[in-house]
Amino acid sequence: MQQEIDGLLAQANAEIDAIEDSEDLEKLRVHYLGKKGLITELLKSVSALPKSERPVIGQTINAAKKVIVQQIKQQQERLMQVKLQASLIKEKIDVSLPGCGERLGSMHPVTRVKQRVVELFKSLGFSVEEGPDIEDDYHNFTALNIPQHHPARALQDTFYLQDDYLLRTHTSPVQIRTMEHASPPFRIITPGRVYRCDSDQTHTPMFHQCEGLLVDEHCTFSSLKGLLHDFLSRFFESAIELRFRPSYFPFTEPSAEVDIRRLDEDGRPMNDWLEVLGCGMVHPNVLRNVNIDPDQFTGFAFGVGLDRLAMLRYRIHDLRTMFENDLRFLQQF
Ligand code: FA5
Ligand code: MG
Repeated sequence: MQQEIDGLLAQANAEIDAIEDSEDLEKLRVHYLGKKGLITELLKSVSALPKSERPVIGQTINAAKKVIVQQIKQQQERLMQVKLQASLIKEKIDVSLPGCGERLGSMHPVTRVKQRVVELFKSLGFSVEEGPDIEDDYHNFTALNIPQHHPARALQDTFYLQDDYLLRTHTSPVQIRTMEHASPPFRIITPGRVYRCDSDQTHTPMFHQCEGLLVDEHCTFSSLKGLLHDFLSRFFESAIELRFRPSYFPFTEPSAEVDIRRLDEDGRPMNDWLEVLGCGMVHPNVLRNVNIDPDQFTGFAFGVGLDRLAMLRYRIHDLRTMFENDLRFLQQF
């Protein structure tokens, strides 16, 4: 019996040592230690031995079993390490390799236009002022000489909010906010978002305006005309034609709307007339509302649609495409 046990142990040792695969190892484990394994069978056979031999043989078999269990365990660990090393090598990442390259974004056409307008006016001594998108009724209408129930309120389709608040329909309230807190002379521009319930090829519910305001002692409509012509031709870097159409704004008198056509090198128009701004001489009532004496000071103001300028500069035919966030459109700029 002893010889049989020694033989079995030696054979198991050799077989386990030679294993290179964990599935084969598991088969070997079952072969020796499983329910019908060789060691298990040996243990069963102990009961058939004479009583005096049973304890010694039993102990020997159990000792052999312990050795085999231990050896299998060691081999399992070794195989796991081998597997781990193999996958570490296979999945190795070289962190020093150059990246695939991030593509740079580009500036939105309206942002480019806004920056350009700001630069042009800064060079003429204008400073930039800003106001809130959520405006109160007083600054958006009343202070601009548009009292409650005045029909001019219907000229702009307003998004009303709770109480006295609304989404500002133009940048003109920033005129009031600026003049309320300082004294003349003023020379400001106020680029920003405005909102109206409007949507077609040349109108979007959110768009951008830039207000300009100049208040001083000798300010005339002709200087306004000159400034606008100078600004727009510098902006487009090409010949332009302007059409001043008499118009009505409660906060200016007289008032005009200005349409523009870009001209090519031969002086031929490149587009149909497009309205780009409203303007006029600041109404005396507006000056009075901010405690400026209209007998001492006069002013002119204008509100230009920045999206309209972008349309013309980049020859975009539908304003709405600017706010659809379609990358195929935006990547062109
Ligand atoms: C005004 O908003 C006046 N506050 C302008 C003004 C300022 C007049 C100061 C006098 C003195 P109007 O509603 O016409 O005016 O709009 C001015 C410009 O904004 C238009 O000429 C046009 O270029 C642009 N605009 C108006 N509505 C839209 C719209 N829904 N989408 C895109 N651009 C628009
Ligand atoms: Mg208009």
